[in-house]
Amino acid sequence: MEETREEENAPAAAYDRLGIGYKQVRRPDPRLGALIRQALDGARTVVNVGAGTGSYEPEDAEVTAVDPSQVMLDQHPGPRKVKASAEELPFADGAFDAAMAVLTVHHWSDLHRGLGELRRVSRRQAVFTWDPEHRPELWLVDAYLPEIRDLDRARFTPVAEVVEALDAHTVLPFPIPHDFTDGLQTAYWRRPEAYLDPAVRAASSTFATLPPSVVEPAMERLRADLASGAWERRHAHLLGRESVDYGYRLVVAGEQ
Ligand SMILES: C[S@@+](CC[C@H](N)C(=O)[O-])C[C@H]1O[C@@H](n2cnc3c(N)ncnc32)[C@H](O)[C@@H]1O
Repeated sequence: MEETREEENAPAAAYDRLGIGYKQVRRPDPRLGALIRQALDGARTVVNVGAGTGSYEPEDAEVTAVDPSQVMLDQHPGPRKVKASAEELPFADGAFDAAMAVLTVHHWSDLHRGLGELRRVSRRQAVFTWDPEHRPELWLVDAYLPEIRDLDRARFTPVAEVVEALDAHTVLPFPIPHDFTDGLQTAYWRRPEAYLDPAVRAASSTFATLPPSVVEPAMERLRADLASGAWERRHAHLLGRESVDYGYRLVVAGEQ
């Protein structure tokens, strides 16, 4: 069954533009998958809000995928897909054992309303997001694209506020492994050449939002620093590390 809920005058979903090619770069990582699975353990019915291509959905649950972008829903392999937004979920109160929302809350037009909807339709909530208050920042921001800082601070809500809105009982840090497979913005902290690939940049909404006139000169500087060995000299302290905590958190609320 595929249910499609077209809403008149719905704002054009940004991921109808960004979503092309997403699946090739944003491959779910088994280590983050294990953390999310643990948080959803025992849930038989799960609504995945901002589901995109379906990353991190538990295989042993009946999952309903919700996303406002048709381009993303078309790449989702599951049988239950609903075109809708977090702010107005078309489900009855308590319809699901659990709700998950992975790397999506920063795209919602009304975070508090969306989190309220998650709490209304489910008994347990697991939200994976990034904390703009966290330090250290990725070297890419500091040394090449400080424009990312303002953009991300405007989009991401401090995790403390998400915790409060959900009345969450657990916050689990997720340090990004050096070989993380899900190509989010910090995924390549130890593989700097990856940022030179336009397909990698296109799958990150921050990169895709910045104008080429800002991104391209920065990437030229990175290319030159990699060629001269300057990047490696400056970041030698990172090269031996297995993972770095860049501020990603899984926030869990509701029934345990
Ligand atoms: C970075 S993707 C994450 C997709 C998926 N959860 C994952 O982990 O790969 C963000 C998703 O949020 C969706 N989105 C944007 N605005 C939304 C809203 N108001 N409500 C629900 N989802 C939204 C986008 O269409 C996109 O699929």
